[in-house]
Amino acid sequence: MPVPGPGYSITVRLEAPPSASAAGDLTSAVGRAGGVITAFDVVESHTDRVVIDLTCNALSANHAKDITDTLETLPGIVVRKVSDRTFLVHLGGKIEISSKVPLRNRDDLSRAYTPGVARVCEAIAKNPDDARRLTIKRNTVAVVTDGSAVLGLGNLGPAAALPVMEGKAALFKKFAGVDAWPVCLDTQDTEEIIRAVELIAPVYGGINLEDISAPRCFEIEARLREKLDIPVFHDDQHGTAIVVVAALRNALRVVGKDIKDCRITVCGVGAAGSAIIRLLQAQTPGDIIAVDVDGIVHRDRPGLDSNLKSIAASTNKDNQSGRLHDALVGSDVFIGVSAPNLFGAEQVATMAKDAIVFALANPDPEIDPMEAQQHAAVVATGRSDFPNQINNVLAFPGVFRGLLDAHARTITDAMLLAAASAIADVVDGDRLNASFIVPSVFDNTVAPAVAEAVRKAANS
Ligand SMILES: NC(=O)c1ccc[n+]([C@@H]2O[C@H](COP(=O)([O-])OP(=O)(O)OC[C@H]3O[C@@H](n4cnc5c(N)ncnc54)[C@H](O)[C@@H]3O)[C@@H](O)[C@H]2O)c1
Repeated sequence: MPVPGPGYSITVRLEAPPSASAAGDLTSAVGRAGGVITAFDVVESHTDRVVIDLTCNALSANHAKDITDTLETLPGIVVRKVSDRTFLVHLGGKIEISSKVPLRNRDDLSRAYTPGVARVCEAIAKNPDDARRLTIKRNTVAVVTDGSAVLGLGNLGPAAALPVMEGKAALFKKFAGVDAWPVCLDTQDTEEIIRAVELIAPVYGGINLEDISAPRCFEIEARLREKLDIPVFHDDQHGTAIVVVAALRNALRVVGKDIKDCRITVCGVGAAGSAIIRLLQAQTPGDIIAVDVDGIVHRDRPGLDSNLKSIAASTNKDNQSGRLHDALVGSDVFIGVSAPNLFGAEQVATMAKDAIVFALANPDPEIDPMEAQQHAAVVATGRSDFPNQINNVLAFPGVFRGLLDAHARTITDAMLLAAASAIADVVDGDRLNASFIVPSVFDNTVAPAVAEAVRKAANS
């Protein structure tokens, strides 16, 4: 059951009579409409009226409108203005560039810019590797998208993807001191995207692909990895896979099972599911059963594309066919990165004892976590209002910090697994339990631990 949250937070500026009961009437009205008040500020006071900023959380944009409408019906209340606090945060964008060097006078200018800078340019021309020492390249990542799979919203295009990419850049800086910059490309042609990234690569120490739809994202990532001498990471694939593997490692510790004995059903074989399967395979699980919108992926299924063919060839030992419900029977683990509301408690009951359920479809998971809990020993979702949130922010800042510090030119499965182990190990034995298998995204020990693990793996 979703609860009103800060994603839909409004501030209603209204006029009210200066009576003793006005505050109570307003707060009761918001409560009746299902909103949650987070602030109540009197911004002006007059003999005949007060002006109040009433801030509250809602469930959705429509719910926010219902709350405002309810306030407007109260006698003596005049709503002056409604501000959506999420839009206010975005006014003018969320990130900026600032200079690291002083530019106070001619002396400063002559060294930071011409004529002094010319000698630095010549040094880099002579030794291109010096770009990592003498420019922003050593700390800068491009966050590249074509806007084709923006969050769960679909193909919104490059301009509409920009708020997400700005947010990503802000997270890179906040959690790992990495300077990331959004690059939203006005093309969805695979060749053009590859060429565009190749052309801008000299500025960056790494490429973070973001919100590019499957299956194009697989080819774009693979070809860029071949062409570029900097690491290419697709957060929707590798970031998710790292955090899922970390969470699964700890969930298995909670139930006392070894991954080598586990049958794992992965539902959704798109960007996230394919990468999760590949990273799980590096740990030789008992078996993996992949399921997509057309059912269980097996070797005799007609119409498999090259990605599904390679998944079919390396999973599903008994070449089982059928639907998701068939795959779940006897599975130790369910990992969903697919679509909302696909099964219920009765299917979880058919899973093995001490089942683990990660229902990660956003915003609505494959199964209501409360239902899953009836039979599963450990449950995780992508949601922040439920324990065990699988959030990529646990991985990507530290991963790039480590890659940049190691001057890495590639990224390997060994580095991804090192990052996963580092995240899992932040939750020590004293804190580990079924409701705490991953650390909080605000645990400031996570990014340094991930960075250190990736740096070590890159240097080994
Ligand atoms: N950290 C997280 O919580 C996290 C991370 C990544 C993705 N996700 C979520 O996972 C979902 C998938 O993301 P993606 O980027 O891989 O998408 P995608 O479009 O690349 O892949 C979706 C996959 O789900 C399958 N699918 C769709 N409907 C299905 C159904 N009814 N039954 C079985 N399979 C079905 C499709 O066949 C496809 O294989 C999204 O909801 C996304 O928000 C969550």
